[in-house]
Amino acid sequence: MPSPGRAWPLVGRAAELDDLEAYLTEATDGPGGAVLLEGEAGVGRTSLVEALQSGAQLLGIRVCGGPDALDELRRPCEDGSARLVVLEDVHRWDDDELTGLAEASADGFPPRTLVVLTLRPVPHRPEVTHVVSRWTRAGARYLELRPLPTAAAVELAEAIVGANLGPSLRGAVSTAGGNPRFVVDVVTAAHDTGALVAVEGGIDAVLPGWRGEVEDVVRSRVAYLGDEVLALLSAASVLGVSFVVVDLAALADRPVADVWRTLRHALAAGVVQARGDRLVFRHDVVRAALYSGIDLDDRRALHARAAWTLREAGAPQAVVATHLERSR
Ligand SMILES: Nc1ncnc2c1ncn2[C@@H]1O[C@H](COP(=O)(O)OP(=O)(O)OP(=O)(O)O)[C@@H](O)[C@H]1O
Ligand SMILES: [Mg+2]
Repeated sequence: MPSPGRAWPLVGRAAELDDLEAYLTEATDGPGGAVLLEGEAGVGRTSLVEALQSGAQLLGIRVCGGPDALDELRRPCEDGSARLVVLEDVHRWDDDELTGLAEASADGFPPRTLVVLTLRPVPHRPEVTHVVSRWTRAGARYLELRPLPTAAAVELAEAIVGANLGPSLRGAVSTAGGNPRFVVDVVTAAHDTGALVAVEGGIDAVLPGWRGEVEDVVRSRVAYLGDEVLALLSAASVLGVSFVVVDLAALADRPVADVWRTLRHALAAGVVQARGDRLVFRHDVVRAALYSGIDLDDRRALHARAAWTLREAGAPQAVVATHLERSR
């Protein structure tokens, strides 16, 4: 059943929904319980808890969410009926609210109640870490929501367009790295720019120029990372989908330790991941968006500097030549 605001079904979350429903049954049967649901921006936390809320309502469990949910949690439930209390996006709560939330775990969980807290890993705030520690000590479970597998991301795109994807659109969807919000952004941009056409066996995005629209949207999606992280990732985008951290430090003219300190936030946010001494952009669409967002003169200068840096580091001539070409 589509949740409000979503015209397509929930895909690829059967296992996570099963886990949450099992916690709900266990908690509402008696002792109460809590779950910390964490995942990168746009990974689908809200969609998943909405599905849980729909299921709970069908079971006659009282569902509380929104701004009053914390008050509801503090109020003893007079009639002793089962409750699901959803506290969304605690990374955005103000300090006083977070203090109240930390305290709310002091006496253990309210009986016959499952509390679900959702949060993004970034921005990192000590007040949020404090809440997570307090709730963890009280016995809250932790559920990390990971990006969708490729097949589920394609299934999502197909559910939105209502047809099989042609090769070009499928390729564009794969740049979303399994993040459902980016999948929706890719398909919506293709649709809104009129790039979608019927092809044999499905729908494809064959008209040129629509990717710029996706990149604009994706740049606004990652703005929450802040200027310092974005500036460094933009420089990294010149080096490619994967890059060596010392090369990035040389390119940005900053000490390696300093660069790691900034990259920590990008790692926590799930924008890049570590692969040995390299880092890899987890969603190619983010790299492309940052790259196309660099002013043309700056981009040329970065390519010139990358050519020099990589030559010094002993990179193959062909790689150096590509950067030189793009520096003109
Ligand atoms: N499993 C899914 N199946 C279908 N659509 C999904 C799924 N997960 C997310 N979406 C869609 O992707 C978009 C982002 O999802 P959602 O808002 O649930 O993510 P979120 O993690 O709550 O984001 P935020 O970090 O902004 O709170 C929405 O358009 C939603 O409908
Ligand atoms: Mg959300």
